Amino acid sequence: MSQATISTSSAQAKDVAGLSLIAAHSHISGLGLDDNLKPKESAQGMVGQVKARRAAGLILKLVQAGQIAGRAVLIAGPPSTGKTAIAMGLSQSLGEGVPFTAIAGSEIFSLDLSKTESLTQAFRKSIGIKIKEETEIIEGEVVEIQIDRSITGGHKQGKLTIKTTDMETIYELGNKMIEGLTKEKVLAGDVISIDKASGKITKLGKSFTRARDYDAMGPETKFVQCPEGELQKRKEVVHTVSLHEIDVINSRQQGFLALFSGDTGEIRSEVRDQINTKVAEWKEEGKAEIVPGVLFIDEVHMLDIESFSFINRALEDDFAPIVVMATNRGVSQTRGTNYKSPHGVPMDLLDRSIIIHTSNYSADELRTILSIRANEEEAELNADALALLTKIGQETSLRYAANLIAVAQQIALKRRAATIDLPDVKRAYTLFLDSERSVQFVNENSKSFIDDEGNVNLGTNGNAKDDDKMQTD
Ligand SMILES: Nc1ncnc2c1ncn2[C@@H]1O[C@H](COP(=O)(O)OP(=O)(O)OP(=O)(O)O)[C@@H](O)[C@H]1O
Ligand SMILES: [Mg+2]
Repeated sequence: MSQATISTSSAQAKDVAGLSLIAAHSHISGLGLDDNLKPKESAQGMVGQVKARRAAGLILKLVQAGQIAGRAVLIAGPPSTGKTAIAMGLSQSLGEGVPFTAIAGSEIFSLDLSKTESLTQAFRKSIGIKIKEETEIIEGEVVEIQIDRSITGGHKQGKLTIKTTDMETIYELGNKMIEGLTKEKVLAGDVISIDKASGKITKLGKSFTRARDYDAMGPETKFVQCPEGELQKRKEVVHTVSLHEIDVINSRQQGFLALFSGDTGEIRSEVRDQINTKVAEWKEEGKAEIVPGVLFIDEVHMLDIESFSFINRALEDDFAPIVVMATNRGVSQTRGTNYKSPHGVPMDLLDRSIIIHTSNYSADELRTILSIRANEEEAELNADALALLTKIGQETSLRYAANLIAVAQQIALKRRAATIDLPDVKRAYTLFLDSERSVQFVNENSKSFIDDEGNVNLGTNGNAKDDDKMQTD
């Protein structure tokens, strides 16, 4: 597409990536901060982890100020200490119009896209462009709608009489407008707004002058004043699209259809260059504002050295989001190298990052989180069951304890009990191993598992109990 016609039509890219991260965090609706960004002990589904949440609150402030971009934040801490949860809370607090993109480090290794292309797309999804546009609208109270159907039933024609307090006009209606009016169930007395460019009809409410005409109406009926002045008005509308959406819409091979399939393929760098230039122009002219959002890379230790160096570079770009990363690794090897570094993140990126730590929960915090989770899963726990789950959470992990809730609920349902009791949790605990017991089992029965060389000792191993034995033909 030529430079002059870069389109920003607000088609919505279907974002499936990251969906799988959400369910476990569905109880979280924000960071749980007060007006001074101080964490409340338990709010918006968030419990404890106060230091990390306060730090996340400051990042929220940075993002909302919109001036600061190209920073990297690393959330580091032991497994199931709420790193992903905090990122989800952050995304919920950002508010509309600030893009948030979540990917897992391993997602960039796909056969369809190169690593750098995946990362570029993730970066550009996290930059919002707020575009101001003037559109012409017709806004007024409907006086009469008259629709003539032709005898053959095909072509429809009609007239719309619409007024403001100062004037009244009759518009001829085509098929498309008639459909729109029918779909919106527009009646005489409604105040409507019609976008002249797209023909989109919006019902604003019912006119006050007609309020007496209705003796039966729902509580949701909204009354508005009949508009004053001219019927046709110019109105400024603001919509936010991500740089990535603009890329896709304007890339010649893909076109906007790719936004529906999500299959965008590689986007040529010339397209991106053109768009960058254009967006910079719009910014100069005051037509657009750049909104740096947040790119969250979970399990960042899964990235390799090339990806890390790409991120280093991308953070210095003109259009850079705030990059939040999370990892549970200590000193570990960076993929694609044979040297070790803290959190598996190379020193040069670590050096540019501010680091937030999460730590293990106290019993009280665990108990509160577990009961919030039970609530979320619509499971009822009695006090004993909750106490045991809390103890399990302390000795294994929060995630394992939380996972037992659903299982224990099924066990309780089987005995037709509405509330989960102590024996249900016990039973769930014996049926499903936590990682530690599983490791123990593997060690005790190492001979009956297939080893790295592909050797397996079927049946003859004295260690395995009868029902654990593998069957030989
Ligand atoms: N402070 C908290 N308040 C409420 N829920 C929490 C909190 N911390 C963790 N959770 C919940 O506990 C579960 C595990 O936490 P989460 O997935 O965030 O851990 P993580 O630190 O990302 O672990 P990992 O390193 O294994 O990825 C999730 O369901 C999460 O929503
Ligand atoms: Mg996580």
